[in-house]
Amino acid sequence: MAELKHIPVMLKECVNALNVKSGGVYFDGTLGGGGHTREILLNSAPNGKVIATDLDDYAINRAKENLKEFGDRLTVVKSNFKDFTDIKSKLDIDGFDGILLDLGVSSFQLDDRSRGFSYLADNEKLDMRMDGNSLVSAETIVNGYKESDLKRIIAEYGEERFAANIARNIVEERKTRPITTVGQLNAIIEKSIPAKFKHDGHPSKRTFQAIRIEVNGELDGLYDTVIAMTRGLKKGGRIAILTFHSLEDRIVKQAFRELETDCICDKSLPVCVCGKKREAVIITRHPITAGEEEQTINPRAKSAKLRVAERV
Ligand SMILES: C[S@@+](CC[C@H](N)C(=O)[O-])C[C@H]1O[C@@H](n2cnc3c(N)ncnc32)[C@H](O)[C@@H]1O
Repeated sequence: MAELKHIPVMLKECVNALNVKSGGVYFDGTLGGGGHTREILLNSAPNGKVIATDLDDYAINRAKENLKEFGDRLTVVKSNFKDFTDIKSKLDIDGFDGILLDLGVSSFQLDDRSRGFSYLADNEKLDMRMDGNSLVSAETIVNGYKESDLKRIIAEYGEERFAANIARNIVEERKTRPITTVGQLNAIIEKSIPAKFKHDGHPSKRTFQAIRIEVNGELDGLYDTVIAMTRGLKKGGRIAILTFHSLEDRIVKQAFRELETDCICDKSLPVCVCGKKREAVIITRHPITAGEEEQTINPRAKSAKLRVAERV
C-alpha cells in the first residue's frame, strides 16, 4: 500500500487561534497524523507539552513514531477525547492553555480501503470503525438496525433525501443475504436514488457519511464534552474546534453560546437568583473557513469550519 498521508486543515489558523506559547500545556483530542500536534509542539518550544488522544491504533502508533523527537513533551493516550475529564485528572493537570479538536475522519482512515470507510472500495468489508476494538461496525448497523432507525440516521446525518428508499432497500436485501461488503451497499444505494438525482457527487457519499457517524458515535456527547473541555482550560486558555458537518458545527456553536451566556434572570429582578455565570467568550462570531488556495490543495478543507472560544 502506498504511504498514507493526511494534510492538516487550517494548520496556521488553529495554532494562531490557540495563542500557542512557549511552556504552555495543550490537549489535542484528535491526534490523527499528528500535523496539528507537531505544530503546537514546535510553537510551544522549548518546554511546552501536548497531551494527545486518538481512538485509532494506526494513528497512535504512527504519530508516536513520527513525533518521537519531542520526547516527553508529548503524551499520547489511546482514548476517546470524550473521556477528557478523566484523562485530565489522571495526568494531574490543573488546566490547559489550549485545546484542539479536528473532528471526523483522517485521510489515513479514508484512504486505507481495507477499513471500509470509502465507497470506492467495492470488495472491502463494511467496517468504518475508528477504534478497531469497538463492537459496532457498519456491518452491524446495516444488518441489525430497524428500518426506521436506518432512515433517520441516513436522513439526519447524511442529509440524504432518498433515505426512506435506501433504508427500505437495505431491509429488503438483507432478508435474502447479509450485507457485508461496500459493493453490496453501493448497489442498494444506486438503485434507491432516481437517475435524475445522481448528479450531486457519488450516490453513496451521504449514506456512507451517515453510517460512519453512527458507527463511531461522533455526535454523541459532543455538546457536554465541549462544555467540560472549556471548563478544563486555564483562565485565558482557548479551545479551537474544526468541524466538517453542519450538525457538528451547530453543536459546537450552541455549546459556546451556553458557555458565554451570563445570568439568565428576568431583568425585573433586583438581584441574580439563577447563579449562571459567563464561563467563556466566543472569539469567532462567524466560523473561520479555509482560504481558496488551501481548498484547492486539500479538498477536505472545503467544508471545514473553525470555531474558537476563550475561558474567562
Ligand atoms: C481529522 S483527523 C485529525 C487529524 C490531525 N489533526 C492531523 O493534523 O493529522 C481526526 C482523528 O481523530 C480521531 N477521532 C475522531 N473522533 C475521536 C474521538 N471521539 N476520540 C478520539 N479520537 C477521535 C480519528 O480517529 C482521527 O484519527
